[in-house]
Amino acid sequence: MDKIAQLQTKMAEAVLGGGETRIASQHKKGKLTARERLQLLLDEGSFEELDMLVANRNRGLTADQEQFLGDGVVTGYGTIHGRLVYVFSQDFTVYGGSLSEPHARKICKIMDLAMENGAPVIGLNDSGGARIQEGVVSLGGYADIFYRNTRASGVIPQISAVMGPCAGGAVYSPAITDFILMVEQTSYMFVTGPNVVKTVTHEEVTAEELGGAQTHATKSGVTHFACSNEVECIQYIKRLLTYIPQNCEEDAPVYPYEKTDETRLALNNIIPEHPNQPYDMKEVIAQLTDTDSFFEVHRDFAENIIVGFALIGGRSIGIVANQPAHLAGVLDIHASVKGARFTRFCDAFNIPLLVLVDVPGFLPGTDQEWNAIITNGAKLLYALSEATVPRITVTTRKAYGGAYCVMNSKHIGADLNYAFPQAEIAVMGPKGAVEIIFKREIEAAADPEARMNELVAEYTERFANPYLAAEKGYIDEVIIPDQARIKLMKGFKMLENKVVHMPRKKHGNIPL
Ligand code: COA
Repeated sequence: MDKIAQLQTKMAEAVLGGGETRIASQHKKGKLTARERLQLLLDEGSFEELDMLVANRNRGLTADQEQFLGDGVVTGYGTIHGRLVYVFSQDFTVYGGSLSEPHARKICKIMDLAMENGAPVIGLNDSGGARIQEGVVSLGGYADIFYRNTRASGVIPQISAVMGPCAGGAVYSPAITDFILMVEQTSYMFVTGPNVVKTVTHEEVTAEELGGAQTHATKSGVTHFACSNEVECIQYIKRLLTYIPQNCEEDAPVYPYEKTDETRLALNNIIPEHPNQPYDMKEVIAQLTDTDSFFEVHRDFAENIIVGFALIGGRSIGIVANQPAHLAGVLDIHASVKGARFTRFCDAFNIPLLVLVDVPGFLPGTDQEWNAIITNGAKLLYALSEATVPRITVTTRKAYGGAYCVMNSKHIGADLNYAFPQAEIAVMGPKGAVEIIFKREIEAAADPEARMNELVAEYTERFANPYLAAEKGYIDEVIIPDQARIKLMKGFKMLENKVVHMPRKKHGNIPL
């Protein structure tokens, strides 16, 4: 056979993966193939495949095995919006996308290239786990990937889309990466599946309930995005990349922005008169950021805190914001962990942080205490304290107690701290404070309730405002809300060359 024709035959064989029948079965499940996904993800014509002809071993634990070129994963590099990315896309049509030693080596190869060349790695996962026929070498392959995920953490962005099964040890590669996206109904992640769960704990649960996209988006927080289908999932990956730099040495892209009148009158009317009345912090975010630029991460998990990316004057920022519309914006375990992890991503990749504060404090209760709100709340405190990127705080309303300190206060290294005139910055809310410090006086009063109301009014007047903090310089400026966007644009510009040297250390010991 002609040498060129021989190569073309091999390439055509590799492109077919597990063959037409299995491709049809993949489509029947509502899933795209590994190659179709890459076609949607990468700029047209940009994909360069590596290791197309790597084949699985023909002998494993069992007798002779069928050989497939590519061995269940398509790997290589290409561009998204013109920027270099490295990709691997598991091919479920070959041994269920299961991971053999050569399959793992292919993934490791592109991870090494990504690290050396400073560009993101995107993994499209769709796999039945360790290749059963191979035994321990496939476990070794997983560990090789986990090790690289960890080494690459904080060096290059790592994004995992789960577009099919991802079970057992396989979950730990996505878990170490920066962002996980899952597709509703066709993907699941769990350490042990429904059958094992039934045997061990006698719980009856479906794969979707146990580890589907909705479960991980709302209950566990394992996934950052639950996408309604694969196309949406790929669009989310592309959008996510627009906010982040290629690696830890670079800054995020800056987009053209035409300055206009940046006054935002709507901000004067969003914060309600009554301090206990909820409002949607996302309305504040929409006013502060460039039109339609807010890209929320972890939208359905711990909704009492909001995290996400946005642009201000064309520059990428990360936002961490209390959400008074949900549980009054209280900080609990999940909210703290969510805020901390996002903060650390932004800090690792030079994305400035905007923290919006309206927090009544930490959530009380046995559930929170016994599940370690102390340790978990400390994560957010630690993450913000160690962040060296430009950090600006706007206190829109409440900042009480320990939560005041945690939410990017001046004391833990925020660069600029603004407050709206509605801000209440104090040790605790007026009622709680009065009940403690005037307990005896209230009890002794002829009309305890009336006396209490009087004292609450006095306390509110004296302490529930931003002015005591401003007197101390803990708040740099109390601002008219409609000026907030202007302050942020100028502030982030002023801080763009910020340099902070951390004390010499191997690494910190964040309370895990
Ligand atoms: N190793 C080797 N081959 C595997 C595999 C694995 N871990 N997982 C799936 N496959 C193969 C199947 O043998 C089948 O091969 P075929 O196309 O030649 O028939 C193909 O992948 C598709 O699997 P199938 O079971 O038909 O698909 P499904 O969509 O019905 O189920 C799974 C998918 C992942 C739920 C199921 O295959 C499974 O439970 N796999 C084993 C998971 C596991 O325990 N992994 C090892 C520990 S991590």
